[in-house]
Amino acid sequence: MTAIERDVVIIGAGPSGLTAANELTKAGLTVAVLEARDRVGGRTWTDHFDGHMIEIGGQWVSPDQDALLDTLAELGLETYSRYREGENVYIDKDGEKRLFTGDIFPVKPETEAELIRLIDELDVVVAEIDADKPWAHPRAEEYDSITFKHWLEEATADQEARDNISLYIGAAMITKPDHAFSFLQALLMAASAGSFTHLVDADFILDKRVVGGMQGVSIALAERLGDDVHLGQPVRTLRWSDDGVVAITASGLEVHAKRAILAVPPVLFSRISYEPPLPRHQHQLHQHLSMGFVIKVHAVYETPFWREAGLSGTAFSPYELSHEAYDNTNHDDPFGTLVGFVSDRNADGVFELSAEERKARILESLSHYYGEQAKNPVFYYESDWGSEEWTRGAYAASFDMGGLSRYGADQRTPVGPISFSCSDFAGAGYQHVDGAIRVGRETAAAIAAELKG
Ligand code: FDA
Repeated sequence: MTAIERDVVIIGAGPSGLTAANELTKAGLTVAVLEARDRVGGRTWTDHFDGHMIEIGGQWVSPDQDALLDTLAELGLETYSRYREGENVYIDKDGEKRLFTGDIFPVKPETEAELIRLIDELDVVVAEIDADKPWAHPRAEEYDSITFKHWLEEATADQEARDNISLYIGAAMITKPDHAFSFLQALLMAASAGSFTHLVDADFILDKRVVGGMQGVSIALAERLGDDVHLGQPVRTLRWSDDGVVAITASGLEVHAKRAILAVPPVLFSRISYEPPLPRHQHQLHQHLSMGFVIKVHAVYETPFWREAGLSGTAFSPYELSHEAYDNTNHDDPFGTLVGFVSDRNADGVFELSAEERKARILESLSHYYGEQAKNPVFYYESDWGSEEWTRGAYAASFDMGGLSRYGADQRTPVGPISFSCSDFAGAGYQHVDGAIRVGRETAAAIAAELKG
């Protein structure tokens, strides 16, 4: 057994924990970061297979994400734009493929009018929501008691308009079916990106990527901490009192500290034994959060063949197995990569199949957007975060019905010397790397203010 002493122990070496650790060392405090995996980065993970770079987790940056953009600049990491020249593809309710440019899907004029009306209506309500405290909205409880599906059914009788608005928030963002989260949760998602219009605008929300991959952010942050990052050290026990904490890992490493930051996805809080147990309220709160679920599919081709056909690679359909897909060709890479997403119940469904059948079904779906050539990638990879012990879903956690208004205000309230920091508890940048960094900075600032006086 090894015991070390630090001012602050940080559990989790994702972007949130590593940001907090760096901010604390800048403030003159000592830290130890304990990470369960044998790598840093958490839900950001860049790997190479057969010479192809694959971004298994988070990758895109949008122009409003200034916490992430500042961090990239500080670390000297460069970005590049997602390819977006040419026409996008939409597949309608009857399976008909249509090409379009701009944000609004090429639907019948009456459905288009409904889509525009709904987006405007949502923008108005979203503007009233403070992403840092959606529970403070005067109608928060009411909005949290109705499902997003119910709100859509009341808002329009046009099924295709409902299906498309639902896609932007449900399949594409929260990655739960629209009957499984509240209208308030949907408003938070949109408010965290600035407006509902931003979510509709793929060129905004999926604007840039990081040269070398998004995991590079965590790798660079960890390098600055040197030996204070301990890999392969899952924390099993956290002893706490008013005097401080002791974090004990599976292999018996003990960190004695004045404060602890729990920088892990909230669904993993209960993997740790707390001595004494956390208060009743946290026991309850933590049970009302669950991970969404999406498969991120990567298909690599000899060339980005869709570009020759005048396609941008951007494709959507609420009626397809892969409800959205993009050109994900890496910076300076002659190979072309498509990335597709299979969300919530569709993901459950394809995981019932054999690996070969699942691949065939997903590539079939991509071929509906890009043609037969899409069926023959030279390399194929499915990101399966549901099987990752230290994540258990993708992209992030959200509250169940009524949970955001009931518990949200307390999600980041420290318990004695324990603070909570993750993208799942962010306002701006909620569920994104940007949010992870913001919460990491804020958590560190609060602790530094207390400890440094
Ligand atoms: P994160 O989960 O990243 O880190 C937590 C760390 O805690 C992990 O390293 C874990 O191993 C560790 N841990 C857990 N339990 C532990 C224990 N008991 N002891 C020690 N360590 C423990 N975002 C974005 O901005 N743009 C995007 O394009 C996408 N796309 C996307 C795709 C996919 C497939 C995924 C899964 C996610 C995204 N995201 C994203 C989301 C983004 O990756 C995510 O919000 C951040 O990585 C969250 O950072 P955190 O530091 O909060 O948690």
